[in-house]
Amino acid sequence: MTSEQAAPPGVDITRPSIARVYDYYLGGKDNFEVDRQAAQMALRVTPDGPEAGRACRAFLRRSVRYLAAEAGIRQFLDLGSGLPTQGNVHEIAHEVDPDARVVYVDNDPMALTHGRALLADARTTTVVGADARQPEELLAQLHDRNLIDFDRPVGLLLLAILHHLHDDDDPAGVARRLVAALPAGSYLAISHFHDPGDAQPEVSQRAREVEKVFNETLGTGRWRTREEIMGFFGGLELLPPGLVPLAEWRPDSEKISPQTATYHTIVGGVARKS
Ligand SMILES: C[S@@+](CC[C@H](N)C(=O)[O-])C[C@H]1O[C@@H](n2cnc3c(N)ncnc32)[C@H](O)[C@@H]1O
Repeated sequence: MTSEQAAPPGVDITRPSIARVYDYYLGGKDNFEVDRQAAQMALRVTPDGPEAGRACRAFLRRSVRYLAAEAGIRQFLDLGSGLPTQGNVHEIAHEVDPDARVVYVDNDPMALTHGRALLADARTTTVVGADARQPEELLAQLHDRNLIDFDRPVGLLLLAILHHLHDDDDPAGVARRLVAALPAGSYLAISHFHDPGDAQPEVSQRAREVEKVFNETLGTGRWRTREEIMGFFGGLELLPPGLVPLAEWRPDSEKISPQTATYHTIVGGVARKS
């Protein structure tokens, strides 16, 4: 957005938003000065932040393609879907099956306005406003509007969202409640900020510093330990290669990704409910 006047109704441009800061990292235009300032503060600690954003989107692409093409998933629930960008979930799923259903969910007014304009298509794709911290209300909405068939397997995408829930928000409980509503044969994909702790003290120190900046500017952002993130899968069986740096999850090519500072501070995995 070049003009601060162009904010859609309901969008607060006096405070940075997660969705818009992420959009800035990805080179998008749906962000404002306040978002760019917040992003710049984090970039002073981790200048390769945009690389982390691209790794998140690449993990999204590969995991959705795997679920659609190899696991046969035909309906996706994308919670914390963000602003539309290149390679949205329905575009990837529709390469495999144009009838695949996608429900995008977010609580950011700008993500909802732009999502409804660009992503919603009455036949296959819906954009829903809901708060991940209230999974019962989300599930009720999905049931009442018949958006998800709870008798058929679902691909639940919790990508780069659980680290924006505070410990008090009970992110493990949120994931557990949503997975409980899905039938066997469903999948859960998670990507999450990671603190490697004593295994990599310098990386861990950087994670702590950027966590501080995120919380001072955006009010959220938790770099969690491997054990904490594994807990969000609630005992489901992870597919190989398990919970790994995003670039290592079923890469498309033999090409080795550069191990920049954020390489070990975002991890992802996909699990199946049996
Ligand atoms: C970093 S973006 C991730 C976008 C996308 N999932 C990806 O991986 O590229 C995080 C998104 O989660 C959304 N979000 C954060 N907290 C949320 C909540 N409590 N309920 C719903 N959405 C939330 C933000 O608005 C933002 O759009």
